Amino acid sequence: MNLIVGKIVNVLCIDMNYHGLGVAKIDDFVIFTRDLFIDERASVRIISISKNYANAEVVNLITKSIHRVREDKFFLDSTDLYNLSDSEQLRFQIHNTSEQLKRAGLEFNNIVPISTENTLNYRNKCKFFVKRDKFLRLFLYDYKYNKIVITNFSLASKNTNIILEQINTSSLKFISILESITFRCNEKDELMINFNDYIHPKLYASNENEFLELRKFLYSFPFVKVVYPDRKPLKVEFKGVKYELSYNSFFQVNYQVADLAFDKISDFFNDINDCIDAYCGLGAIGFSIKNAPKVIFVDNNRDNIYQLNKKINSNPKYTSYLVDVNTITSKLLGEGIIVDPPRGGLDDTLINHLNSYIYKKISYLSCDLLTLVRDLKKIKDNYEIVEVYAVRMFPGTSSIETLVNLKKR
Ligand SMILES: C[S@@+](CC[C@H](N)C(=O)[O-])C[C@H]1O[C@@H](n2cnc3c(N)ncnc32)[C@H](O)[C@@H]1O
Repeated sequence: MNLIVGKIVNVLCIDMNYHGLGVAKIDDFVIFTRDLFIDERASVRIISISKNYANAEVVNLITKSIHRVREDKFFLDSTDLYNLSDSEQLRFQIHNTSEQLKRAGLEFNNIVPISTENTLNYRNKCKFFVKRDKFLRLFLYDYKYNKIVITNFSLASKNTNIILEQINTSSLKFISILESITFRCNEKDELMINFNDYIHPKLYASNENEFLELRKFLYSFPFVKVVYPDRKPLKVEFKGVKYELSYNSFFQVNYQVADLAFDKISDFFNDINDCIDAYCGLGAIGFSIKNAPKVIFVDNNRDNIYQLNKKINSNPKYTSYLVDVNTITSKLLGEGIIVDPPRGGLDDTLINHLNSYIYKKISYLSCDLLTLVRDLKKIKDNYEIVEVYAVRMFPGTSSIETLVNLKKR
């Protein structure tokens, strides 16, 4: 069949690819379609074609999957699996994880889910963009990069949505230098609100008057605790430990699921006397290790280590380093190491260290399956996989978080 952009064809979805797109075939030519689930038939419009595959969008859903639980047509780029049942999302995650491990020669069949009932409104950090308009309007992108002004974001906290709705129906004035607003909440859904991650303090200062109305509006909500540029931290209590978040400090976006995942690390490290929490952020994993008498924290973010140092004070149990972890491998001495890197995974310097200074145990928490598997392959001669967890950190999306516990061979 000759496919051209704009053509409408009937397809049957037979699989989902790594990115959560429905897979169909016409004469062995693959067509990827967003929001099309296994066993669904649909007429789809071809939106782009390359040598080996085409991308399409649903025009008309002919037969629905029993796993389709919603029919939100304006689904956002950030909630690509929102219409799929939780059980099928979990199946997708476990299948993907198992396939990627198998491809790397690391076959592992008992992948255990870590999830909670709470699969909506779980995000403690949400960023919305500012639309060029007469009034202040916040939007998210849909899958075609259209700007969608929404009054409710299914993954955001209750109070974030209250403000989102109020702003997007208000007559607050548009502010020319404001590009985005980030809402962050604690476990009580109290909010810290940041105007644009990259706004320069000098630029803000010279435009401060433009923000007066918005700041006053935001502070009128009793649950709003900090608004940029105020420097108060947002207080968070997580696993019985008190944290102070600044605008830039890192925290896992889903408190409840992170809580369960960290328990699995702590249980696995129950016979470990001293460990390293590399890529520690505010130290949330290291502080949740119950038995280790000594923990070394490493992070290259100044805000994170500043906050962490206030907490560890002069407690001899803890040591911290504000440094690139790859530059101090000689100091990473202990029986166990926790690695929770950004999407890019581990640098070869740290991989070489893991292969020369052999730890008794490693916990690897990852938000990118491909780099995780790449790294596991590099250390497989020295470490054996003991447990793999499909961590449901981002329900409603195709993003995958994985926890792998390993021990030395
Ligand atoms: C995914 S976060 C993990 C944070 C922490 N484990 C937690 O659960 O809250 C990754 C952290 O690694 C830090 N980081 C990124 N690259 C690093 C590097 N080369 N050396 C040390 N820390 C790094 C970031 O600042 C960030 O805090």
